Amino acid sequence: MNDPRIRAASAVAASPSRTAARVGTPPVIVSRGLTVGYNLHRERKRLTALRNIDLTVKRGEFVVLVGPSGCGKTTFINAVAGLVEPWEGTIEANGRPVTGPGPDRAMVFQDYALMPWRTVESNVRMPFEFQRLGLTREEMDARVRRYIELVDLGGFEKSYPYELSGGMKQRVGIARALVCEPDILLADEPFAAIDAMTREAMQGELERFVAKTGQTVVFITHSIDEAVTLADRVAVISYRPGQIKEIVEVNLPRPRFGYDVKTLAEYGELRDHIWRLVKDEAFQASRGERR
Ligand SMILES: Nc1ncnc2c1ncn2[C@@H]1O[C@H](COP(=O)(O)OP(=O)(O)O)[C@@H](O)[C@H]1O
Ligand SMILES: [Mg+2]
Repeated sequence: MNDPRIRAASAVAASPSRTAARVGTPPVIVSRGLTVGYNLHRERKRLTALRNIDLTVKRGEFVVLVGPSGCGKTTFINAVAGLVEPWEGTIEANGRPVTGPGPDRAMVFQDYALMPWRTVESNVRMPFEFQRLGLTREEMDARVRRYIELVDLGGFEKSYPYELSGGMKQRVGIARALVCEPDILLADEPFAAIDAMTREAMQGELERFVAKTGQTVVFITHSIDEAVTLADRVAVISYRPGQIKEIVEVNLPRPRFGYDVKTLAEYGELRDHIWRLVKDEAFQASRGERR
């Protein structure tokens, strides 16, 4: 019974679909007919980045967006974050229309976006300077300590970003996003710049964090393996203007890093299916970019 494949396979049989288990769970993000674009002033035209996106994300769900470069993935999470406005349609977070950024939504950026002149502790504390959460000084200190520990950076509080590896910098970015205890974690290719081994470890850590915190996650990646490894559902976005091509349910057992899910037949099938969906779009994107 120590063979991880047997454990994993029996867990597949034993664990009901996480999505099915969420029937009746309230939606946290609701996008209805969302169309977003940009006014290109130099070219004097309007570019539609995303068109008619209908997507509902339930509390505690982990949704991954995949699709070719330029299909509007970042635009979608920026709309959830309140950083861009819809042209048409609506976007709601926690039952309210999104009108701007708020402490219920936090972003983890691909390029870390740390302040180089601030220590780890000071970077993690930064959101408290912008958001009034009604916390006392002691409560803020305790949260900073808790999230630095959670991302295993205890002992590095006084280090500066230049003293850290890529994986450590990204963990600072994650701690900074978590310190406000947001309901919704938005992650834009957060592990893209991290080497392959650290990346797998970070995926495991992220799964562990969100299992503890129960957060709702919208995560962007170009890696289909990363998508299948992390997601409850994978939304495949088509080439520009981005539309949802298909939503693929991933009912693999959790914790995925406790089991060797990659050895399961279902894993390979999901991977192939998503790859086939993405491949055509990526091909179109590469032709579009050459034009
Ligand atoms: N601030 C902006 N101004 C003008 N065009 C933009 C801006 N941000 C993104 N775009 C364009 O919108 C489209 C979608 O971009 P983006 O959401 O970044 O795609 P993805 O994250 O999927 O690569 C692209 O064609 C991109 O060039
Ligand atoms: Mg992007």
